[in-house]
Order: sequence, then C-alpha cells, then structure tokens
Amino acid sequence: MQSRTKLNVNDILSKKGKEKISVLTAYEYSTARICDKADIDILLVGDSAGMVVLGYASTMPVSMQEMMIFCGAVARGTKRAMIVGDMPFGSYQVGPSVAVENAVQLIKAGCDAVKLEGSSEIVDTIDAIANAGIPVMGHIGLRPQTSSLWEGYKLQGRTKEGAIKLIEDANVLEKAGVFSIVLEMVASEVADAITKRLSIPTIGIGSGSSCDGQVLVLHDMLGIYEDIRPRFVKRYAELSKEIFDAVSSYNHDIKAGTFPEESNTFHMDTKELNKWKNESRI
Ligand code: KIV
Repeated sequence: MQSRTKLNVNDILSKKGKEKISVLTAYEYSTARICDKADIDILLVGDSAGMVVLGYASTMPVSMQEMMIFCGAVARGTKRAMIVGDMPFGSYQVGPSVAVENAVQLIKAGCDAVKLEGSSEIVDTIDAIANAGIPVMGHIGLRPQTSSLWEGYKLQGRTKEGAIKLIEDANVLEKAGVFSIVLEMVASEVADAITKRLSIPTIGIGSGSSCDGQVLVLHDMLGIYEDIRPRFVKRYAELSKEIFDAVSSYNHDIKAGTFPEESNTFHMDTKELNKWKNESRI
C-alpha cells in the first residue's frame, strides 16, 4: 500500500513518463473506499453515473444536484486518490461564469478537480475555471454527452483528417491549461502521437496502451452494468452473476425459513423474560 497522503495535480503531472496513472470511476462511499485502499490514483466521479447508477439511456439528463450527491459520497470514502468531478451536460456550455459557479459547487462537494468535454469551443471556460484556482481535466475523442446527437459511439481518429484534428484539439487543451486529458475511443496510433507530443498526461479509455494512464467505468470492469459491453473493457469480475446468486439464496432462505439463524437473532435478558412470562402468562 502506498502513502496515504492525498495526491495533488503535481503528483499526477510528475508520473508522466515514469509511472502509469490508474483511474476508475466512482459514485458512492463504499466502493470509493475500496478503490482508494487499492491505491487507484484518480477517482473520476463520471457522469456515466447517469447510466450505470441512475438508469438513464445516456449521460445527457444528469444534473448538477445528482453529481453533487455522488461527489460528496466519493469524497467521504477517499483519503489518497485525487477526485475529479465530471461537469454534466448543461453545467458549462452556457458560458464561463455559470461554469465557474458549477465547478465551485463540485469542489465544495469534495472534488479536487473537474472534467469537461470539448476543445476550442470551451477554451474561455477552461481559462475561467482555472483562474478560479480549480484544476481542469480535458476530454476529447468520443464525447458521450454530445456524440449521441451527431454520430453515435464511434472510434475517433480513424482517418488522416480525424487524426490531425484530434492532435490539434489536444494541443489547444494543453495551451488552455488543463492538467491532463481523457482520450476516449481514439485510434491507438493517434493516442500514441498525442501522448508523445504533450507534456501533460493522457488518460485513455479504449485508446490503446500508450496513454500515460487508463480509466474504466467501475460497473463495466466489475461486470455489474449489463446494458452495453464495449470491446475495450476488460472484465475483472462478473459481479452481476455473484450478486444474482447471493440475492437468490437470500430469497430462498427467507421462503424456506432458514434465515435468520440463531447467530443472527437477539434475545431478552433471561431474568426479565421469566418475569415477563410469569406476570403476563405468555
Ligand atoms: O463519465 C465517465 O465515466 C467518463 C469516463 C468514461 C472517462 O467520462
């Protein structure tokens, strides 16, 4: 187990080229505690919570109020990992001042940084948030908040033009002052080129092994979320089966009268019970 001191932006920056950065999404106290104990470097309170926790069909309906509850719960379970809060759709597109207000709310809820999807169109917003003293993580490639409106979930940077555009996007974000960039579903050759060009860390999801770090959605890698199964996810457990088996056994035990057992049962003080029996003739 590594030192329990809280990781900050400089710790994350200093890992580039030396040590890969581990990132997982987290949405609540108990699993955040486990991920933190396992020395995951960054816990991303992703707006993917909207899909895997709240059951929305996409991340678009997620509100600031919902994100604040998730961020607070993760912060209460975390001692070491840096916590990055995703700014949900609508919380930063309106303009820099609204974005700063919302970013401040996420920091007050316990985050150490915020993440925004986009590039040149949000440079002023990134600048305003960074000027408020809040570290910003960028997110390019597939952008789940808006990709469903345009082209669906597709690999990004498959063509020469696509590759050049992504490299430009990454450069713009680095200049704008982000401390790292998520590359989602970017062709691995392009992710490699971006990672080599930038002095800040890239965090890949479905973007190959060259990135400085990797992120997965916790419910995907644990095998809990069953609606979508992207090819880039490695399943480290099949918890939905384990949960199903446990819940079915519980159901069976209740119906059969085999739960609770004596070890799960509490009793009255014997003297008091006898007094009560004698007096009330029960
Ligand atoms: O919301 C999320 O979980 C994310 C990751 C997929 C990077 O943005």
